[in-house]
Amino acid sequence: MLKRILSALFKGRAVDVPNTDQIQEGTARGVTVGDLAAGGTRVLLCRVDGALHAIDSLCPHEGGRLETGDLVEGRLARCPLHGYLFDPRNGAVKRGACAGAKTYRVAEQGSTATFWIG
Ligand code: FES
Repeated sequence: MLKRILSALFKGRAVDVPNTDQIQEGTARGVTVGDLAAGGTRVLLCRVDGALHAIDSLCPHEGGRLETGDLVEGRLARCPLHGYLFDPRNGAVKRGACAGAKTYRVAEQGSTATFWIG
């Protein structure tokens, strides 16, 4: 029911991710949606201040892929290509000079999270 209401509000395709309760504070897990070579998307689910946040792993600088695992200072996603840092809560660049990264709405219920792409 909640998922149906949120889908109507947020629009786009809902992607369910199981076992998100295992994503520890200050870490990120990557989720690939579709085939990356054919227009798919890779999203990082990051836990910051207890909440999950979804950020596109495609770095807006020059197309690197943001890292999974430990977040820098427990709250920032890092691109390994040039070391730029992004806030997964809103996509803002915290170190570097480029546009912010794309973020997605995410809701977590029990051990399953849903984010909306589209
Ligand atoms: S491509 Fe990501 S920091 Fe340059």
